[in-house]
Amino acid sequence: MLINIEHIKKGYGDKSNRNEVLKDVSLQIEEGEICVIFGPSGSGKSTLLNILGALDQPDEGRVTVCGKELHKMKMNELAKYRRDDLGFVFQFYNLIPDLTVIENIQVCENLSPNPLDINELIKTLGLEEHKYKFPYQLSGGQQQRCAIARALVKNPQLLLCDEPTGALDYSISKEMLGLLKKVNEEYGTTIVIVTHNNAIGDMANHIIAIRDGKISKESHNDEPCDVEKLSW
Ligand SMILES: Nc1ncnc2c1ncn2[C@@H]1O[C@H](COP(=O)(O)OP(=O)(O)OP(=O)(O)O)[C@@H](O)[C@H]1O
Ligand SMILES: [Mg+2]
Repeated sequence: MLINIEHIKKGYGDKSNRNEVLKDVSLQIEEGEICVIFGPSGSGKSTLLNILGALDQPDEGRVTVCGKELHKMKMNELAKYRRDDLGFVFQFYNLIPDLTVIENIQVCENLSPNPLDINELIKTLGLEEHKYKFPYQLSGGQQQRCAIARALVKNPQLLLCDEPTGALDYSISKEMLGLLKKVNEEYGTTIVIVTHNNAIGDMANHIIAIRDGKISKESHNDEPCDVEKLSW
């Protein structure tokens, strides 16, 4: 098992103004899975993903990823975990505006002792003709592909994607999901996708619905459908 979350709770605010966001969430994700976590806005999806990515910490509970017990680790150990084991794709890309596509990817390549071949990755993600452009010269979908390449170049065991299609139109969204599927098949990367779009669940091996900070439904699918067949 790659991820084991046990009874985590997370809230914001003090006693009189407390917002309990995650209320006793437990889940397991196996290595090599595509896991889709969906739920309405405000249900706690990004909070959960940020805890998995060690960008945030739970108030209670245990989180184990790649054999590492995050709840017991110090800040410098968590930074190393983020650097070595994780790729993170944010909803709004977070590319460095003053660097070209290839330079944005190289920043992360340099962090890893075991990076993927950057030119092969650029090819896989259809960025060859854009590699010397700056982010402002790219469409949203091209920027998102660059963000995925940047997250993947380190060859992480785990790729965390927060609304990877949130800002994209329908056909580009499907193209993006097809790329994630390809990455999962070619590199064996475990992928967790958080989304408000439940149709994306059809491409996953493992589907988790979250509502009001709790898991409201969970299912496994041995024969997920091809990305081309998704529709919403
Ligand atoms: N740093 C924070 N301080 C206070 N409240 C927060 C903080 N981060 C999140 N929240 C609250 O936690 C709740 C869950 O937020 P979260 O971002 O996890 O939801 P989400 O499911 O990702 O929503 P969306 O689909 O809109 O992205 C919301 O009510 C939000 O206002
Ligand atoms: Mg969110």
